[in-house]
Amino acid sequence: MRERMAIAGVLLVVLSCNTGGDADRRGSEPVSGKALYKTHCAICHGADGKKGLAGAKMIPESELSLDERIALITNGKGNMMPYRGVLSKEEIARVATYTLTLD
Ligand code: HEC
Repeated sequence: MRERMAIAGVLLVVLSCNTGGDADRRGSEPVSGKALYKTHCAICHGADGKKGLAGAKMIPESELSLDERIALITNGKGNMMPYRGVLSKEEIARVATYTLTLD
């Protein structure tokens, strides 16, 4: 009887980890820079950064540093809207880092 209670207890812990735990993790999982880029940037810049819609610069040819990209994305420039208030600082840093990988 005691043993059965212990097993039931273990099962309960395992079950609650599998359901509640997973849902929590999904909820707070940070969106990757790539996913952010696809959602917010690819419309003008294209998935490869070379679309150039509305005068958008070719991202693979950009010589801006990471800090300069973060500033540009935060404040906007020309036809590109500012992302301050749309994306968090962390998200802007992540998507800026992702643009460095386009070539
Ligand atoms: C409405 C279209 C549009 C969207 C959406 C957009 N951009 Fe831009 N982007 C532009 C335009 C236009 C420029 C050129 C700005 C200028 O220099 O006048 C630009 C410039 C840039 C540059 C600078 C390139 C250089 O070397 O000068 C980077 C980096 C960049 N965008 C990244 C992003 C990222 C990251 C996102 C998504 C968070 C994004 N853009 C969303 C239109 C857009």
